[in-house]
Amino acid sequence: MGLQATATYADCDLSAQLSTAPVGGRQTRQTRQVRLAALPSAVPWARRVLRHMIGEWQLESIADTAALLVSELVTNAVDASAASASRGHGKLPVIGLTIRLTAASLVLEVSDTSPLRPVRQEADSAADHGRGLVLVDALADAWGDRAADDGKVVWCEVAIPARPAALGSVQ
Ligand SMILES: Nc1ncnc2c1ncn2[C@@H]1O[C@H](COP(=O)(O)OP(=O)(O)O)[C@@H](O)[C@H]1O
Ligand SMILES: [Mg+2]
Repeated sequence: MGLQATATYADCDLSAQLSTAPVGGRQTRQTRQVRLAALPSAVPWARRVLRHMIGEWQLESIADTAALLVSELVTNAVDASAASASRGHGKLPVIGLTIRLTAASLVLEVSDTSPLRPVRQEADSAADHGRGLVLVDALADAWGDRAADDGKVVWCEVAIPARPAALGSVQ
Protein backbone atom coordinates (compact mmCIF):
# COMPACT_ATOMS: atom_id res chain seq x y z
CA MET A 1 0.00 0.00 0.00
CA GLY A 2 1.58 3.29 -1.08
CA LEU A 3 0.98 5.77 1.68
CA GLN A 4 2.99 8.61 0.22
CA ALA A 5 0.23 9.80 -2.07
CA THR A 6 -3.45 10.37 -1.49
CA ALA A 7 -5.29 7.18 -2.37
CA THR A 8 -8.79 5.81 -2.05
CA TYR A 9 -9.56 2.14 -1.47
CA ALA A 10 -12.93 0.45 -1.14
CA ASP A 11 -12.96 0.91 2.61
CA CYS A 12 -9.98 3.17 3.28
CA ASP A 13 -9.39 6.73 2.12
CA LEU A 14 -5.90 7.98 2.82
CA SER A 15 -4.86 11.58 2.73
CA ALA A 16 -1.66 13.05 4.04
CA GLN A 17 -1.50 16.47 5.58
CA LEU A 18 1.19 18.52 7.19
CA SER A 19 -0.08 20.62 10.05
CA THR A 20 1.21 22.79 12.82
CA ALA A 21 -2.09 23.13 14.65
CA PRO A 22 -1.71 22.88 18.41
CA VAL A 23 -3.24 19.82 20.15
CA GLY A 24 -3.92 20.33 23.83
CA GLY A 25 -1.27 23.02 23.99
CA ARG A 26 1.33 20.95 22.15
CA GLN A 27 2.47 21.80 18.68
CA THR A 28 1.71 19.14 16.08
CA ARG A 29 4.69 18.39 13.88
CA GLN A 30 3.07 16.03 11.41
CA THR A 31 -0.35 14.53 10.91
CA ARG A 32 -1.78 11.57 8.99
CA GLN A 33 -5.55 11.42 8.56
CA VAL A 34 -7.47 8.41 7.29
CA ARG A 35 -11.17 7.78 6.76
CA LEU A 36 -12.29 4.20 7.21
CA ALA A 37 -15.62 2.54 6.56
CA ALA A 38 -17.07 1.57 9.92
CA LEU A 39 -16.58 -2.15 9.36
CA PRO A 40 -14.46 -4.69 11.25
CA SER A 41 -11.84 -4.23 8.50
CA ALA A 42 -11.24 -0.72 9.91
CA VAL A 43 -9.22 -2.27 12.73
CA PRO A 44 -6.51 -3.95 10.60
CA TRP A 45 -6.52 -0.94 8.25
CA ALA A 46 -5.89 1.40 11.18
CA ARG A 47 -3.07 -0.81 12.47
CA ARG A 48 -1.54 -0.91 9.02
CA VAL A 49 -1.55 2.86 8.57
CA LEU A 50 -0.23 3.32 12.10
CA ARG A 51 2.57 0.82 11.50
CA HIS A 52 3.58 2.77 8.40
CA MET A 53 3.71 6.06 10.31
CA ILE A 54 5.56 4.47 13.22
CA GLY A 55 8.22 3.41 10.72
CA GLU A 56 8.29 6.81 9.02
CA TRP A 57 8.63 8.66 12.32
CA GLN A 58 11.03 6.09 13.85
CA LEU A 59 8.82 5.37 16.85
CA GLU A 60 9.42 1.62 17.03
CA SER A 61 9.84 1.76 20.82
CA ILE A 62 6.14 2.54 21.24
CA ALA A 63 4.87 0.50 18.27
CA ASP A 64 3.21 -2.30 20.28
CA THR A 65 1.53 0.07 22.73
CA ALA A 66 0.27 2.30 19.94
CA ALA A 67 -1.04 -0.69 17.95
CA LEU A 68 -2.99 -1.96 20.94
CA LEU A 69 -4.42 1.49 21.63
CA VAL A 70 -5.53 2.11 18.06
CA SER A 71 -7.09 -1.36 17.94
CA GLU A 72 -9.18 -0.70 21.05
CA LEU A 73 -10.30 2.78 19.99
CA VAL A 74 -11.19 1.75 16.44
CA THR A 75 -12.98 -1.41 17.64
CA ASN A 76 -15.09 0.74 19.93
CA ALA A 77 -15.78 3.21 17.12
CA VAL A 78 -16.92 0.37 14.83
CA ASP A 79 -19.22 -0.98 17.55
CA ALA A 80 -20.64 2.48 18.31
CA SER A 81 -21.13 3.22 14.60
CA ALA A 82 -23.03 -0.04 14.12
CA ALA A 83 -25.30 0.90 17.01
CA SER A 84 -25.98 4.40 15.67
CA ALA A 85 -26.48 3.09 12.11
CA SER A 86 -29.04 0.60 13.36
CA ARG A 87 -30.91 3.49 14.96
CA GLY A 88 -31.75 4.60 11.43
CA HIS A 89 -28.97 6.88 10.15
CA GLY A 90 -28.99 4.90 6.91
CA LYS A 91 -25.74 4.94 4.97
CA LEU A 92 -22.58 3.24 6.13
CA PRO A 93 -20.88 5.42 8.75
CA VAL A 94 -17.28 6.48 8.48
CA ILE A 95 -14.60 6.47 11.16
CA GLY A 96 -11.82 9.03 11.13
CA LEU A 97 -8.33 8.22 12.35
CA THR A 98 -5.85 11.03 12.91
CA ILE A 99 -2.30 10.19 13.92
CA ARG A 100 -0.34 13.17 15.20
CA LEU A 101 3.31 13.51 16.00
CA THR A 102 4.18 16.18 18.54
CA ALA A 103 7.60 17.00 19.93
CA ALA A 104 7.10 14.63 22.86
CA SER A 105 4.24 12.29 22.02
CA LEU A 106 2.17 10.35 19.57
CA VAL A 107 -1.53 11.26 19.62
CA LEU A 108 -4.21 8.95 18.20
CA GLU A 109 -7.66 10.43 17.55
CA VAL A 110 -10.59 8.26 16.44
CA SER A 111 -13.84 9.91 15.41
CA ASP A 112 -17.21 8.23 14.97
CA THR A 113 -20.78 9.35 14.37
CA SER A 114 -22.21 8.13 17.68
CA PRO A 115 -23.08 10.88 20.17
CA LEU A 116 -22.58 8.45 23.07
CA ARG A 117 -19.46 8.83 25.18
CA PRO A 118 -16.96 6.11 26.09
CA VAL A 119 -17.42 4.80 29.63
CA ARG A 120 -14.52 3.09 31.33
CA GLN A 121 -15.82 0.02 33.15
CA GLU A 122 -14.62 -1.19 36.53
CA ALA A 123 -12.04 -3.95 36.13
CA ASP A 124 -13.89 -7.27 36.48
CA SER A 125 -11.88 -10.41 35.89
CA ALA A 126 -15.06 -12.42 35.23
CA ALA A 127 -16.48 -10.10 32.54
CA ASP A 128 -15.91 -10.97 28.88
CA HIS A 129 -16.09 -7.34 27.76
CA GLY A 130 -15.35 -3.91 29.16
CA ARG A 131 -11.56 -4.29 29.21
CA GLY A 132 -10.73 -2.04 26.26
CA LEU A 133 -10.80 1.30 28.01
CA VAL A 134 -9.24 -0.22 31.13
CA LEU A 135 -6.28 -1.08 28.89
CA VAL A 136 -6.32 2.34 27.25
CA ASP A 137 -6.33 3.96 30.69
CA ALA A 138 -3.39 1.82 31.78
CA LEU A 139 -1.25 2.15 28.64
CA ALA A 140 -1.86 5.70 27.45
CA ASP A 141 -0.30 8.68 29.18
CA ALA A 142 -3.56 10.54 28.67
CA TRP A 143 -6.88 9.87 26.97
CA GLY A 144 -10.30 11.41 26.69
CA ASP A 145 -13.13 12.34 24.38
CA ARG A 146 -14.65 15.48 22.96
CA ALA A 147 -17.77 16.29 20.99
CA ALA A 148 -17.33 16.84 17.25
CA ASP A 149 -19.62 18.21 14.53
CA ASP A 150 -21.04 14.81 13.66
CA GLY A 151 -20.44 12.63 16.71
CA LYS A 152 -17.29 12.71 18.79
CA VAL A 153 -13.58 12.03 18.96
CA VAL A 154 -11.92 9.64 21.39
CA TRP A 155 -8.20 10.30 21.68
CA CYS A 156 -5.16 9.01 23.52
CA GLU A 157 -1.56 10.08 23.82
CA VAL A 158 1.65 8.12 24.29
CA ALA A 159 4.85 9.85 25.34
CA ILE A 160 7.87 9.21 23.15
CA PRO A 161 10.74 7.94 25.29
CA ALA A 162 13.91 10.00 25.09
CA ARG A 163 16.23 8.50 22.51
CA PRO A 164 19.60 7.39 23.86
CA ALA A 165 22.48 9.46 22.54
CA ALA A 166 23.96 7.80 19.45
CA LEU A 167 26.95 5.59 20.21
CA GLY A 168 30.19 7.28 19.37
CA SER A 169 28.67 10.75 19.30
CA VAL A 170 30.55 11.73 22.47
CA GLN A 171 34.13 12.73 21.68
N1 LIG B 1 -16.46 5.23 20.62
C1 LIG B 1 -17.43 4.95 21.51
N2 LIG B 1 -18.68 5.43 21.32
C2 LIG B 1 -19.67 5.17 22.19
N3 LIG B 1 -19.52 4.42 23.30
C3 LIG B 1 -18.28 3.93 23.55
C4 LIG B 1 -17.18 4.16 22.68
N4 LIG B 1 -16.09 3.54 23.18
C5 LIG B 1 -16.50 2.95 24.31
N5 LIG B 1 -17.82 3.17 24.53
C6 LIG B 1 -18.63 2.68 25.66
O1 LIG B 1 -17.74 2.35 26.70
C7 LIG B 1 -17.92 0.97 27.04
C8 LIG B 1 -16.61 0.36 27.48
O2 LIG B 1 -15.74 0.21 26.38
P1 LIG B 1 -14.61 -0.90 26.46
O3 LIG B 1 -13.89 -0.73 27.75
O4 LIG B 1 -13.80 -0.83 25.21
O5 LIG B 1 -15.38 -2.27 26.56
P2 LIG B 1 -16.20 -3.08 25.45
O6 LIG B 1 -15.85 -2.48 24.12
O7 LIG B 1 -15.70 -4.48 25.58
O8 LIG B 1 -17.64 -2.89 25.82
C9 LIG B 1 -18.55 0.34 25.81
O9 LIG B 1 -19.30 -0.82 26.14
C10 LIG B 1 -19.43 1.44 25.30
O10 LIG B 1 -20.63 1.48 26.01
MG1 LIG C 1 -13.95 -2.06 23.49
